Amino acid sequence: MKKLIPLLFITGLLLSSDLKTGEKVFKEKCITCHTIGEGKKVGYDLKDIHKKREIDWLKGFIKKPSDFYGKDRIADSLLKEYRIKMPDFDLSEEEVEGIILYIKEKSEKGEEKKTPGERKTYLENEFDKEKYKRGKALFSGGIIFKNKGTPCISCHDVKGVFSFGGGKLGTDLRNAFENYGEEGLLMALSDIPFPQMVPIYKDKPLDSTEIEDIVYFLKNLEKEKKENNLFFPVFLGVIFFSSIPLLIWRKRNYGVRKNLLKGGK
Ligand code: HEC
Ligand code: HEC
Repeated sequence: MKKLIPLLFITGLLLSSDLKTGEKVFKEKCITCHTIGEGKKVGYDLKDIHKKREIDWLKGFIKKPSDFYGKDRIADSLLKEYRIKMPDFDLSEEEVEGIILYIKEKSEKGEEKKTPGERKTYLENEFDKEKYKRGKALFSGGIIFKNKGTPCISCHDVKGVFSFGGGKLGTDLRNAFENYGEEGLLMALSDIPFPQMVPIYKDKPLDSTEIEDIVYFLKNLEKEKKENNLFFPVFLGVIFFSSIPLLIWRKRNYGVRKNLLKGGK
């Protein structure tokens, strides 16, 4: 018995340190998309998830969700429902264990109700074209972020908006608003959960108005399409007529330009 007490004590300590790690990691990496007992966010409410799923499945999935999509029935049906893939976080064994402990503990303790952060909701009935344009320019680098973060377009395209196309490292964000919802996107950009984006914005966070403008842009993509449709014929006309003198000019100056280019080294 005498020997058992310190042993229990040590186990207790170990458990509580795992729990602490779990809480820390959860708050750092998961809370943007998940709650435990506070309802659905972008992803699942994880309350009691340890009762719903096999522990081994949970460990595997949290460790590397990308191994499950396309191979695992549960993961695929979740993906079908949520339409967003959970990112890989490269967590250690201990961190995963800790997270599961934390989820268990939090599920049992019940919710300490968190007051949702105050968010401006736009009471917009009318399309705010300036806000949209600002969001678009921030996205594409036409306006530089206050903290000099990389423009989104270096990694993301938005199909049908940028004729020159965006980077391919990230997904096309055409449906991001639909998939994440307004609240979800605002959260995801103020507390970025995507591992490949974290290093880019960690020391150069986006400002809250910048985030709002970008979300507004992603929300109103359809409006631009309508406008574009209207202007497209006019646009074509302008191109056509303005290209005639241009063609003539081009021919005349071709030789000169060629020399310039050659000599311009
Ligand atoms: C970018 C948002 C996002 C982040 C961040 C995120 N998840 Fe998820 N998670 C999801 C989505 C969406 C699903 C629903 C399944 C799917 O579509 O893959 C999910 C599913 C899950 C599931 C399975 C739920 C079930 O019903 O079996 C678990 C467990 C889980 N996440 C845990 C975590 C943990 C732990 C973290 C932090 C290390 C985390 N998630 C971070 C989006 C996220
Ligand atoms: C260095 C490249 C990079 C930059 C810059 C970047 N992202 Fe990402 N982003 C990624 C990657 C990679 C992912 C994760 C894979 C994916 O879902 O596309 C991602 C994921 C996302 C997602 C989730 C997409 C989905 O379908 O689940 C959103 C939304 C997003 N980024 C928005 C933005 C916005 C807005 C900006 C500009 C403020 C931005 N990103 C800048 C690389 C980048």
